[in-house]
Amino acid sequence: MFAPVSTPAFAIREIAFFVLGITGVIFLIVGGMILYTIVRFRRRAADRPSEPPQVYGSMRIELAWTVVPFLIVTVLFLVTARYIWGIENRSQPPSALEVTIVGNQWWWEIRYPKLGVVTANELHVPVSDPGSPMPTFVTLESVDVIHSFWVPQLAGKMDVIPNKTNRTWIEPRTPGTYVGQCAEYCGLQHGLMLLVVVVHPRDEFERWVAAQQAPARDEPAARAGRDLFASLACINCHTVRGTTANGVFGPDLTHLMSRWTIGAGAARNTHENLQAWVNDPGTLKHGALMPAMKLSRRELDTLTAYLVTLK
Ligand code: CUA
Repeated sequence: MFAPVSTPAFAIREIAFFVLGITGVIFLIVGGMILYTIVRFRRRAADRPSEPPQVYGSMRIELAWTVVPFLIVTVLFLVTARYIWGIENRSQPPSALEVTIVGNQWWWEIRYPKLGVVTANELHVPVSDPGSPMPTFVTLESVDVIHSFWVPQLAGKMDVIPNKTNRTWIEPRTPGTYVGQCAEYCGLQHGLMLLVVVVHPRDEFERWVAAQQAPARDEPAARAGRDLFASLACINCHTVRGTTANGVFGPDLTHLMSRWTIGAGAARNTHENLQAWVNDPGTLKHGALMPAMKLSRRELDTLTAYLVTLK
């Protein structure tokens, strides 16, 4: 959060420094007085026990330590409220990109309703220049429990709540890859709910969208695996666009191999890991809701050979 690349994260750093400044001064004053007291009034050999001066009921002291903290808290409250107001009331410009992110136990579904793209765990957005702004407005939904969307370099936390739609927005200024993580305890694999945000230059983003919009590849060499996939329970939960698979409970696999990780950060997305995942997801991510498919070695090889063609 101290290295922001996007509004509203810039504003959040500003206010964090402001609060740290005020509390830092308070810390120095209080700590300094304690140190001074410890040194100045330490016990000396010649000391005789005596009662210190009593200040109970002193109007001046009581007023000072009531009024000063009240003023400090009021300033912190008003400044914070002003920042929150500014962030929450940003209206959506027509040029904005719309994304819907759905929290699941334990992965993120990412939909671009106007572009017809569905992916998982990796949010791709364009960079936004002051000259031609293109912020991303994010709608947050959850299908099960409360999650929390948090990418510290881009924006503050926003809860992802079942039966409630929350909104947030980002406006990244610098292309790059930024890492986020679910920030609300949501069950066994809360720790493996990685969210990667890739901020692209405009033309690169358009190429990414075009690649994601394309239907799944159909490689003749992998047709046996494709048919096996279609005959198994896989298609009840997963979608591969251009095939009969249209399940919605699990991640869309149309362009599975374009993603870096399996299981929202559980493992790198390699042929070998993918095979281990299909064989038994629990070995890579204990408690993952995808069942072990109980496939024979040959079926597993055939199926994985198909999955790795989904680029
Ligand atoms: Cu989802 Cu923690």
